[in-house]
Amino acid sequence: MNSNLVAHKITVATFAEKRRNNEAIAILTAYDYTIGRLLDECGIDAILVGDSLAMVMLGHVNTLSVTLEEMLHHIRAVRRGVNRALLIGDLPFMSYQVDESQALRSAGRLVQEGGVEAVKLEGGRGIANAVRAIVRAGIPVQGHIGLTPQSVNMFGGWKVQGRTATAASRLLDDALSLEDAGCFSIVIEGVPAQVATHITERLSIPTIGIGAGVGTSGQVLVIHDVLGLCEENQPRFAKRYADLGSNIREAANKYRHEVLARAFPGAEQAYAMSPEEWQIFLNTPSTADGRRG
Ligand code: KIV
Repeated sequence: MNSNLVAHKITVATFAEKRRNNEAIAILTAYDYTIGRLLDECGIDAILVGDSLAMVMLGHVNTLSVTLEEMLHHIRAVRRGVNRALLIGDLPFMSYQVDESQALRSAGRLVQEGGVEAVKLEGGRGIANAVRAIVRAGIPVQGHIGLTPQSVNMFGGWKVQGRTATAASRLLDDALSLEDAGCFSIVIEGVPAQVATHITERLSIPTIGIGAGVGTSGQVLVIHDVLGLCEENQPRFAKRYADLGSNIREAANKYRHEVLARAFPGAEQAYAMSPEEWQIFLNTPSTADGRRG
């Protein structure tokens, strides 16, 4: 479907408009067609195919090992389900850090082969030139600062960032550099609420918080946290809006018991043959060994 034909299609211009009107922006992650379609139907503003898929879909301990090819595989699936929301794809670790031309090539692949309408990359001033190169090519870029998961080893773990005055100033400088480089919005992750609010007030582009309090322009969460699918290691900032983990276990247990008890499938799940056809079948000798009937 031509996405421009979808009513109220969300674009980066919608993000700017929402910022001007002080309207909140709701973003969720998705990693497959079905969830992408459901979230799109709910009116979520943007769907992010995050590199968090390394952890919640592929079972890695962090986001560092997911590749551009793996990201593309999931992005293409989500693309098929999303018409209205802005589709954003994450550039994974080492797909943009080498130099600007690598960053541009990787971003271009997510657009051409995955169909995303914007890309997200992690980092501050250090990646401003890469952002400029991608934006110059006509690809909208979402920045991502604070507790950026691709730098987890530098942080020495999943630690809240910007807790000292010096660290908060650095974050503000990073945000201003990203805005100057042309980002249409910036994700602020794992940062004290006052700092995220202050950065938001200093920028004219929208900020999207995750573990950054309520003062940002919008919020993003990982869909597995929202649905209660990641029961271990749920971060403090994530709120569970459903308990699908328990629902799935309950459904699988019921199914297993019914299979063992031969209670499934019932007549309503089975197909029938007419009695006449059945009689003909029984009276027809097998062409293979003549033993039927
Ligand atoms: O990878 C991801 O899902 C993200 C969001 C949580 C912001 O970067």
